[in-house]
Amino acid sequence: MNSEMISIHESAKTTTEALETRHSIREYLEEPVPDEILQRIFKKALRSPSWKNSQPWKVHIVSGNKREELALELTKAAKESSPQPETNWPESYPSDAKKRMFDLGMKIYGVAGIDRKDKEARDQFMLRNFEFFGAPTAVFITSKFDLNFFVGIDLGCFLQSSLLLAREEGLGTCPQAALGAFPDVVRNHLGLPKEEKVILGLSIGYPKPDSELNRFHTPRESAEDLLRFY
Ligand SMILES: Cc1cc2nc3c(=O)[nH]c(=O)nc-3n(C[C@H](O)[C@H](O)[C@H](O)COP(=O)(O)O)c2cc1C
Repeated sequence: MNSEMISIHESAKTTTEALETRHSIREYLEEPVPDEILQRIFKKALRSPSWKNSQPWKVHIVSGNKREELALELTKAAKESSPQPETNWPESYPSDAKKRMFDLGMKIYGVAGIDRKDKEARDQFMLRNFEFFGAPTAVFITSKFDLNFFVGIDLGCFLQSSLLLAREEGLGTCPQAALGAFPDVVRNHLGLPKEEKVILGLSIGYPKPDSELNRFHTPRESAEDLLRFY
């Protein structure tokens, strides 16, 4: 089946379908995701591989009032201060990646009806990260491990498992480094110990139909350029 034909509102039936139809969702319905579905997704995602089976993750799934309050607190922090991530957010990129990132910004702002020169509008859009783009549930991935490269890979495996399993349940997601921007706010709100570092998070919920933002797909470089068979 042509992956373009599969709606993001339907469940993906195979891993291929989940992979080909997953993309970041940035507008959601208010409809809550039943707890048993969230349980299924994140319990299964715990099967993800990790370095020597070290399983460096903890997963905090936040819905309802707790989610409302946290959105307010994170938005306030984002308005009043600069990000204080506990991970090294990348600062430089190869030039071809810079072009892809620039294109992403142009495309997203275009679809959202934002003039790239309008800093105020761009800032407002950025703040939507902290309201989880309207998703009814926010998920935070934390780790008490020393943050080395392989811990990052392990958490990435967990993240991708979660995104694909969510597609299997007919849900949309957006992985967000932004959710690791204000770790103290998240820790205080959820009562987590200082040694649990808040790495990143994801928004999860039912994609809003007829949303231009949700229809927008990012391109990928070609297999001919990136894959080598020997
Ligand atoms: C580690 C990671 C962090 C990300 N952080 C953010 C974020 O903070 N805000 C956001 O809107 N999207 C974020 N994204 C989504 C990426 O922009 C998106 O995955 C990429 O542009 C490819 O588009 P697609 O997910 O629609 O295929 C993140 C993705 C990853 C994997």
